[in-house]
Amino acid sequence: MHEFRLPGVIHFGWGAFDRLGDEASRLGERALLVTGRSAMKKTGVLGRAQSLLAEAGLAALLFDEVESDPSGSTIDRGGKLAREESCDLVVGLGGGSPMDAARGIAAMAVLEGSIIDYLRGKAVDRPGLPLVNVATTAGTASEITSVSVVLDEERELKAGVRSPFWFARAAITDPELTTMMPPALTAATGLDALTHAAESYLSTRATPPTEALALRAIALIGSNLRAAVADGDDRGAREAMALASMTAGMAFANSGLGLVHALAHPVGVRYGVAHGVACGRLLPQVLKYNAAAVPERVAAVGGVLLGRQVERPEDTVEGVESLVADVGVTIGIADLPIDEQEMPGLAQDTLASGSVRVNPRPVTEEDARAVLDDARRAG
Ligand SMILES: [Fe+2]
Repeated sequence: MHEFRLPGVIHFGWGAFDRLGDEASRLGERALLVTGRSAMKKTGVLGRAQSLLAEAGLAALLFDEVESDPSGSTIDRGGKLAREESCDLVVGLGGGSPMDAARGIAAMAVLEGSIIDYLRGKAVDRPGLPLVNVATTAGTASEITSVSVVLDEERELKAGVRSPFWFARAAITDPELTTMMPPALTAATGLDALTHAAESYLSTRATPPTEALALRAIALIGSNLRAAVADGDDRGAREAMALASMTAGMAFANSGLGLVHALAHPVGVRYGVAHGVACGRLLPQVLKYNAAAVPERVAAVGGVLLGRQVERPEDTVEGVESLVADVGVTIGIADLPIDEQEMPGLAQDTLASGSVRVNPRPVTEEDARAVLDDARRAG
């Protein structure tokens, strides 16, 4: 037996953004609109969201304080604001950070305490405010999933909190919004999507539906990420990458991830590496590690990525490395200023992630250190 959960509705395609007003007006009258500090203002997307909500008859209060790694205190502050202002709906707008923060804020508008309590294991026992998430990148898929990645500032630890209550009531994935991403962001978010799909396919909790979705995403990324990075106006490539992000999200929301994500969070937080870049840097090394346990499955990832018969897992690793390099991301972590003394802490934080538990090859602290050591020699 297995279960499969998704948002209430997913609007996908060119012009899907225009559905925001309709969806929001079905769910509430007074929205807290959650976004980052500047990107959405510069691109005009925030203005369009405000107009769509106003035209649909909603009052929208702006919370634009989400940082690139949303902290527990930011989410708690947003939740308090939603409660004090009697908001009955939360709308997230942007990449992974604003959408994750919007999810946490919708929850904390209703729950007691701090989101950090829930990160540390307290049970989420009730739904939050209804949530609509609008994606402006193609990678994180936070509009699709039920997880909020939060920075626990006290412990300097970034981790995901999830609840079946936390799927958005409506998710909007519009390729048009992704055409505003510069090449480096297109590359980073695309490698995040590739990592989601590969880790979902290899997860011990993968099921036939999640496998089908993950493989579809990998094939789309293999054929389109280079083109989307090279020419941001390539509509075919942008649409394919938005679809890849969405399908990978549908897969990993139900299967969980794996060791790349467990490593990427501590490496990202400690050395200031963007999440998608950290994933791209570490994915080849983790595929090598996992190939010892599930060689055929690692080979299958390469087969769909490269669009040809792949029998050796090494060919998958090479195919991923060439894609990572072609989109301008460094392979491995040799250039990061990692001090030997920091290695035990990095390994411990890696093991603290729930993603390790579904990795196809079991991971001890020593294993995590060995993978990190390999990644420090790679590149
Ligand atoms: Fe990710």
